[in-house]
Amino acid sequence: MAGRIPKQFIDELLTRSDIVDVIDSYVPLKKAGKDYKACCPFHEEKTPSFTVSVDKQFYHCFGCGAHGSAIGFLMDYEHMSFVEAVEDLAARAGLKVPKEAGIVSEQDKDSGANLLEILREASRFYRQQLREHPQAGRAVEYLKGRGITGEIAHEFGLGFAPDGWDNLLRALGKDDASREALARAGLAVKKEAGGYYDRFRDRIMFPIEDYRGRVVAFGGRILDKGEPKYLNSPETPLFHKGRELYGLFHAREAIKRDNRVLVVEGYMDVVALAQFGVDFAVATLGTATTRDHLERLFRHAPEVIFCFDGDRAGREAAWRALDNALPALREGWQASFLFLPEGEDPDTLVRKEGRDAFLARLKTATPLPEYLFDNLMRQVDMNRMDGRARLVELARPLLSKMPTGVLRQMMLDRLAELSRMDVGKLPVPSGNAEPANVFRTARRGSSSGPQEPPSIVRRAIALMLQHPVLAKKLSNESELAGLDLPGMPLFLELCGLLKHSPTLNTAAIIESFSDSEYQHHLSRLAVWGYPAMAENVEMEFDSVINRLCAASSKQRTQRLLQKQHVQGLNQMEKDELARLLSVKRDNSRLSPSRH
Ligand code: CTP
Ligand code: MN
Repeated sequence: MAGRIPKQFIDELLTRSDIVDVIDSYVPLKKAGKDYKACCPFHEEKTPSFTVSVDKQFYHCFGCGAHGSAIGFLMDYEHMSFVEAVEDLAARAGLKVPKEAGIVSEQDKDSGANLLEILREASRFYRQQLREHPQAGRAVEYLKGRGITGEIAHEFGLGFAPDGWDNLLRALGKDDASREALARAGLAVKKEAGGYYDRFRDRIMFPIEDYRGRVVAFGGRILDKGEPKYLNSPETPLFHKGRELYGLFHAREAIKRDNRVLVVEGYMDVVALAQFGVDFAVATLGTATTRDHLERLFRHAPEVIFCFDGDRAGREAAWRALDNALPALREGWQASFLFLPEGEDPDTLVRKEGRDAFLARLKTATPLPEYLFDNLMRQVDMNRMDGRARLVELARPLLSKMPTGVLRQMMLDRLAELSRMDVGKLPVPSGNAEPANVFRTARRGSSSGPQEPPSIVRRAIALMLQHPVLAKKLSNESELAGLDLPGMPLFLELCGLLKHSPTLNTAAIIESFSDSEYQHHLSRLAVWGYPAMAENVEMEFDSVINRLCAASSKQRTQRLLQKQHVQGLNQMEKDELARLLSVKRDNSRLSPSRH
């Protein structure tokens, strides 16, 4: 069990290092005003929207939403583990990572870089076996039998894992450390009795690449009949099935060119389609399409076409994909669904009818809104009033998942039309603006306005998070402790943290919330702004805090008045109420400010 790195050390590390140096060593940055800019390394773009803030020690891409501290950057860009990223940063800053009881240096133990190296070598080994192994003839025959040309096999780096328990282990597992690394990379399996064996045997190997084209896993197809037909790498530090997509790196240029991406189910489908010139296809890896997948796909192209088998399993998979796509459907993004004839998959179909006919099919794909309503309407009797009511009930949870915007509004309008109901009466909330569900409780009735001003608590948090020195000005947060407003617990926690560690910068604050449900909201607020915030930060902060204090007094007064009415007050409460009421009188006579 690895121990933890002390929180104070992370704080110190993030205040001592400079994120600009760190990122600049991978992605050359250009100064732009107070900040630095570059084309985003996490998605394809031509004009730079990747911004690095010196003050906040935080990066943020306005194009794809990627963001984080220097630690986060190293984890995402270099695939380092948390501990590795900390060790890397510490080395740059000339600091030594304190070793708490039980902590092991992960430098050589769980190094992502080591695993990448092993995976690259394994990929080379499998390719070489396809050319040289005495059994390679069978594999080549199999690929030929499936119509795969040598050229396309080469392009996708297909390989061959020969039959036998230790082919790979003998080639790459020279010592204990490398055998252990093979196991961690998912290529070898550790036996309970000791020793290892090759995970992939007698299979065609499909290397799976990450967004930078580095092999992070494999899929292996059995040559003959046998179970399982496909075997994938297990989850490893580098590979998460729910995030990677087969063929994405290979297809990225074509996706950009076509402004669309086709999502299919199988490795063979991607390879066959590419061979026939349909080169913008990717495959999920034997899992449902996840929200993560979709967010990634939409970073590459505004249009995603899902292609499923026409059978029941295909329809179920499509519905799951739809469910996951809804929250990701931001402005201008489109998803549609194509169902193939029963018994066909993209591989068989493109071979049968060729590229043009297959591309023509894509034009007939059903847009997501239509697919959604068609599917729901099939489940109810639209001629009955209670059937149409049921339609509303079925649509409600789905439409609620969508972000606010034109598409959502149009779908609400359509639902109103179909159910013959006034759109204003539909029981679907119309506001789902991001960021921050933390703030989205206790607000009913008044929430229908499309452009709510940002809540005062959100402003307070954003100001203090982006300008931590402001916390020093706070002398009255105890007054606010009882204020019951969405977001207040987070605000108070932030105050407490900065009282205790006043030198933290934005990135360090967010990092110190790393075990908390709040971290996500904080990351968003770190780059969120509104006009008054850009002008005079201190004045704006004063005014926000004054308003919070006023809200707090008002709430407290109301509570006391209510209690007085219901059960009476004790002396202390009476004094407090008198004080609150007199302050209120003073305030209404004097200026609106109390400081
Ligand atoms: N799959 C898997 N494990 C299995 C079966 C399937 O991981 N036991 C995944 C693989 O990613 C596979 C995809 O699901 O590519 C689709 O599977 P399937 O439709 O059964 O196979 P095909 O892709 O048509 O494979 P083939 O044409 O080689 O028979
Ligand atoms: Mn197939």
